[in-house]
Amino acid sequence: MPRPGTTGRRTLAVGVIGPGRVGSALLEQLRAAQPRLARDQALELKLCGVVASKRMWLDCDDAELNDRHGGAQIWRPSDLDAFAAHVQGNDDRHALLIDCSASEAVAAHYPRWLAAGLHVVTPNKLAGSGPLARWQAIRTACAGGARFRYEATVCAGLPVVQTLRDLLDTGDELLGIEGMFSGTLAWLCNRHDGSQPFSALLREAHALGYTEPDPRADLSGLDVARKLVILAREAGWPLSLEQVDVESLVPPALAEVPLDEFMQRLDELDAPLAAKLAAARAEGGVLRHVARLDRHGRASVKLTVLPAAHAFAHSRLTDNVVQFSTRRYCDNPLQVQGPGAGPEVTAAGVFADLLRIAESLGVSA
Ligand SMILES: NC(=O)c1ccc[n+]([C@@H]2O[C@H](COP(=O)([O-])OP(=O)(O)OC[C@H]3O[C@@H](n4cnc5c(N)ncnc54)[C@H](OP(=O)(O)O)[C@@H]3O)[C@@H](O)[C@H]2O)c1
Repeated sequence: MPRPGTTGRRTLAVGVIGPGRVGSALLEQLRAAQPRLARDQALELKLCGVVASKRMWLDCDDAELNDRHGGAQIWRPSDLDAFAAHVQGNDDRHALLIDCSASEAVAAHYPRWLAAGLHVVTPNKLAGSGPLARWQAIRTACAGGARFRYEATVCAGLPVVQTLRDLLDTGDELLGIEGMFSGTLAWLCNRHDGSQPFSALLREAHALGYTEPDPRADLSGLDVARKLVILAREAGWPLSLEQVDVESLVPPALAEVPLDEFMQRLDELDAPLAAKLAAARAEGGVLRHVARLDRHGRASVKLTVLPAAHAFAHSRLTDNVVQFSTRRYCDNPLQVQGPGAGPEVTAAGVFADLLRIAESLGVSA
């Protein structure tokens, strides 16, 4: 049954940028949900196009685009502006672009797209944690009515950005954020009990596909710092990536060497990490990779000794955890926990953003 107030047919034109792991999972979810949304919510999701780095597929070229985007015979060279113009159409419909790339070039287009009235949803962290001037340009562009949502940039499908937004919108005051935003580093810290060297655990995590192809991308802490910046900005604090005190777990001597050499020299990480573990134990604590933002806007990402009773000491496997300390949640912080990566849950976080936008617009044909 259509929801009350949604009896009129509603149409949202959608274009997907980046049909990689997340983008492909999203396309599957959209396709599966289209009949249900049309039936139950009178919402027609009109998939107008898919664009990758070199090629794009538009529905005007291929009516069954959604089924065939991977192997379609009909494609054009990529052109992001032409793609956006096609999705927007010229009939005043509501149109939304979903950026599932990790591309700076794509993020650079957001202010212009939003200013032109296109809504943007993304799991790409580069705009939310990139230059402040661009972030502000995005906020300014949204004043015209276009929506920008990025729930999946922090902990994938977990409701983290929305939870913070709801706290603030209802008049609560943020006092601090503490989080474990890297599933890889959470797993490594959980398993690092001294029974085997850190390098052996890292090799295991790499073989299991828990790390990025180059594990330094996880160990550097940069990705975690980006998530902290996104949350700080959500709370209205103009934090820049450069202001986050990030402790990299990669020894300087290994930071620039080729990946093969890095993997061969992994045991150089063992002594410093064994020393940190011993120091934590001497204090009766545990070692965890923690991102922190305090009430003065000071931000850090580092290995931290936590009391054995701390909630982060008992996290599961690769779970992400975030705690919001606020005026209302001051004695016992509000906590969100669960798997914080993976194409399906990330795509679902993106999809939920899309649905919130559709709902808020009352989009109509
Ligand atoms: N995977 C996860 O679990 C996860 C979790 C949270 C957030 N995210 C974020 O989600 C995004 C996608 O991740 P992913 O794992 O799906 O990456 P991926 O598999 O590498 O896919 C990236 C896609 O982006 C496309 N692309 C790159 N540059 C482009 C450009 N200039 N214009 C158009 N398309 C372009 C690529 O096309 P080509 O194939 O043609 O290069 C590819 O289809 C990233 O921002 C990532 O940080 C991922």
